[in-house]
Amino acid sequence: MAKILIGSDHGGYNLKREIIEHLRMLDYAVEDFGCHSSEAYDYPLIAKALAQEVINSGNKGILICGTGVGVSIVANRFKGIRASHCTDTFTARMTRKHNDSNILCLGERITGVGLAKDIVDIWLNTEFEGGRHKTRIDMY
Ligand code: RB5
Repeated sequence: MAKILIGSDHGGYNLKREIIEHLRMLDYAVEDFGCHSSEAYDYPLIAKALAQEVINSGNKGILICGTGVGVSIVANRFKGIRASHCTDTFTARMTRKHNDSNILCLGERITGVGLAKDIVDIWLNTEFEGGRHKTRIDMY
């Protein structure tokens, strides 16, 4: 059973709950890095912990905040992390094919639950194409 790491701040807490339920229905094991309520919580703390564990474990991660931007900025500071802020399914597909994205970032205040689930499904089910795209990834 594939394991997905997931985390949010308060701005992404409700969407995170929906995505966790969705992932469990699809039989993924889910590790929740918090936060665990809609009380204000600083997104860098969650994003740093999850990014580190994506590097250590090789599992994919999903980070959610209000816009998806804060968590993506933090996660992308870690070498080996390729965090993609997605608000549409085309980007979700292409960022797996061409960027080998290992963290998906979503914004609860931007993207509705239905679209967010589609983005997650496509992102999880699209393979990296490798080849010239691997050469490019190896440049950074
Ligand atoms: C929290 O209000 C908000 O700033 C945060 O969730 C996120 O959108 C930051 O980028």
